[in-house]
Amino acid sequence: MEETEKLAFKKILEEKAQAIEEVIKAYLPEKEGLQRTVIEAMHYSVLAGGKRLRPMLMQETYKFCGGQGECIKPFMAAMEMIHTYSLVHDDLPAMDNDEYRRGRKTTHVVYGEGMAVLAGDALLNYAFETALKVFHTCEVDGVPLTDRYRAGAKALSILANKAGIYGMIGGQNADIEAEQAAETDLSRLIFIHEHKTAALIEASIMIGAVLAGAKEETVKALEECASHIGIAFQIQDDILDVVGDVESLGKPIGSDEKNHKQTYVTLVGLKEAEREVKARSEKALSILKSLSGDSSFLQDLIKYLIHRNK
Ligand code: IPE
Ligand code: IPE
Ligand code: MG
Ligand code: MG
Ligand code: MG
Repeated sequence: MEETEKLAFKKILEEKAQAIEEVIKAYLPEKEGLQRTVIEAMHYSVLAGGKRLRPMLMQETYKFCGGQGECIKPFMAAMEMIHTYSLVHDDLPAMDNDEYRRGRKTTHVVYGEGMAVLAGDALLNYAFETALKVFHTCEVDGVPLTDRYRAGAKALSILANKAGIYGMIGGQNADIEAEQAAETDLSRLIFIHEHKTAALIEASIMIGAVLAGAKEETVKALEECASHIGIAFQIQDDILDVVGDVESLGKPIGSDEKNHKQTYVTLVGLKEAEREVKARSEKALSILKSLSGDSSFLQDLIKYLIHRNK
């Protein structure tokens, strides 16, 4: 991508992120009642900015697969709630022990550890309460409830599976244990990246496809495409933890070294890690191109992510 193209694309991304922010906001609970503090902590962490990559991938895949309704919105909000919960917990002293996220103090620094644990739990639970609202969108989408049940239940099961022990949580487990291991081999590291990061990206893309009514084989192909995007995304995150700039990242650099994490960079070096980001992105692009429909925005997004600096 040329520098001018990159700038123009960045602007489009910002506009899309802004629109997504409005969707997320609409689904957040009111700050009221004796549970007000935990709800405030939910707002604080979710509305702190962030690239909104996962809901964006979900919405764009939905459009790519021909989806036109409102039913995607509760899932977009739910996905960002689950992603944010994973970050709130990831930053806790018991995990990565980081003090900055999305350009501000982490939730546990502002609200205390107990409240940050609860805010994470609350976001996970509220994500499902939110996603279930998919069944309230039938009337506006003009779809019979029985049809919506099928796609909605499938999407809910993908969300639950990819966020759980066979997805993100499983990856965080292996990530924590790898800190203590003398050496991590590449296959273990790929397991970690595939689960802690790619799983939620896979879920985002798959849910977009499922709610748009895509065929089973398309959903499978997109899952593989998303796996490459997700692993490349985490390798780039590892790279930025070494060579990134705190100001643009909005989170500390050197967190991995501080925690004795073995990353793609420590294992194969910076150059090779960069090559892998490109190679994985190429694989994702070739899968997308093999599917019928206009995937030009998704393709541009994948290319843009290769050189992202935040
Ligand atoms: C951070 O995700 C955690 C990783 C999986 C690397 P993002 O880089 O998408 O964070 P935000 O949402 O933009 O803050
Ligand atoms: C994030 O991995 C994975 C999550 C599921 C949150 P990192 O620990 O590398 O993410 P950052 O660098 O803190 O955003
Ligand atoms: Mg971590
Ligand atoms: Mg971390
Ligand atoms: Mg990181």
